[in-house]
Amino acid sequence: MSLIYKEEIESWTWYEAESVFSTNDTVKEEISGLGNNIVISAKCQTGGRGRRGKTWQEILGNLYFTYTQVASAQELSKIVCIIGLSLAKVIKALSPQSDVKIKWPNDVFLEGKKMSGILIENIKENLWAIGIGINVEGAPKLEGANYQATSLKENGIALDRTEILRYYLNQYSEDMKEYRRNGFRHIREQWLKIAKNYHQEITVKTEKETKEGIFEDLDDNGYLILKTQQGEERIIAGDLFV
Ligand code: BTN
Repeated sequence: MSLIYKEEIESWTWYEAESVFSTNDTVKEEISGLGNNIVISAKCQTGGRGRRGKTWQEILGNLYFTYTQVASAQELSKIVCIIGLSLAKVIKALSPQSDVKIKWPNDVFLEGKKMSGILIENIKENLWAIGIGINVEGAPKLEGANYQATSLKENGIALDRTEILRYYLNQYSEDMKEYRRNGFRHIREQWLKIAKNYHQEITVKTEKETKEGIFEDLDDNGYLILKTQQGEERIIAGDLFV
């Protein structure tokens, strides 16, 4: 990997690469040499992947980065929510009038369209690779999805991709500090205020099954509480549809 820039941000050392296959892979490959607290971004990402085997398209000027986070498997579902919340706060701060929502667990929607994607993968034990793609300059045409994608530029937010990365890591560090100090309660309240489809009829697809019900709440672990005809169910991980 050829690194073209290095900077310290909060507790991470951030490295920018010219071109990689997937920043998630690069972080996993490089931690043995660069250490555990790293962020790697790339100008080009030729093999970006999304959740559930999807690809994440490359558009020049968009932001692709992955950073490391230590978390027990048990607290990961809360951190998953914090990531979406931090990202949503950054976008709201840059464009206070715009409609910013989080689709459980952490897809950020801007004016009803998806503007970012998050892929979390385990590196080893309690160390996780948090990969984030943000549509800064352009949005791909999504096939087979029941929503569209948008970019920051399309919504009048004109900022360099690296500035967004800095804003995000600062906001995320602040939110993690708040979580470590005071627990998940306040994070959960903030998250619910901007949750997409909250209290609405939704469909949730987990790895094993599809369930329908009302999106009733988010519990203290960051699990979605779904009110179904059979009763209340707690969903740990899955995709939400309407
Ligand atoms: C999704 O919405 O399906 C998740 C998309 C995650 C894309 C990012 S881009 C940076 C990092 N590297 C990858 O290969 N994927 C994530």
